[in-house]
Amino acid sequence: MKFFIDTANLDEIREAASIGILDGVTTNPTLLAKEKGKGDFRTILKKICELVDGPVSAEVIAMDAEGMVKEAEDLAKLHKNIVIKIPMCKEGLKAIRMLDAKGIQTNCTLIFSPIQALLAAKAGASFVSPFVGRLDDASHVGMDLIEDIATIFENYDICTEIIVASVRNPLHVVEAALIGADIATIPFKVIEQLTKHPLTDIGIKNFLEDWKKVDK
Ligand code: G3P
Repeated sequence: MKFFIDTANLDEIREAASIGILDGVTTNPTLLAKEKGKGDFRTILKKICELVDGPVSAEVIAMDAEGMVKEAEDLAKLHKNIVIKIPMCKEGLKAIRMLDAKGIQTNCTLIFSPIQALLAAKAGASFVSPFVGRLDDASHVGMDLIEDIATIFENYDICTEIIVASVRNPLHVVEAALIGADIATIPFKVIEQLTKHPLTDIGIKNFLEDWKKVDK
């Protein structure tokens, strides 16, 4: 499974990349808004592309297909690794189809049902982003959606990649891997949590203490 980081914060991306497990980055308008005061969003996106050699999702704001395509073409000029995030809706599907014809990769976002994912794939999306955490927040089991999409894509040999998004905790990442999702896009805080286990900490502490007793 590929690991993306879900942030527009350059320090977090740099740190996660230094661990050597980062395959890509996803941003959205909310995440870019958190970086207010640190440069215009185009500069931030370009810097992200310089830090990580993999897909970097940047989202459009227009709500009509032509407007989405225009924004997408501008964003795609920033770097070869930019993937255009398009919200799931009728206009979004039209835009995905047009961008696919132009050879521009898309990530259809705000997916909350299996059929939305199938529609996005049929339109030509390179990636779909089902949001597990927001479903959990609404008392639905987010991971059931991932299982359903994975089954449908397998049934029809669909090569659109599933990005498990809205990840809130390490268990989401484990479950995504068990299902066989292609990618999990993970907030920095959760990436840090993934490295930790209390027994590992106790084990390291004990080894270091015992090492003091070794004849040197
Ligand atoms: O980037 C899309 C998604 O991961 C957002 O997550 O935590 O705002 O539901 P969240």
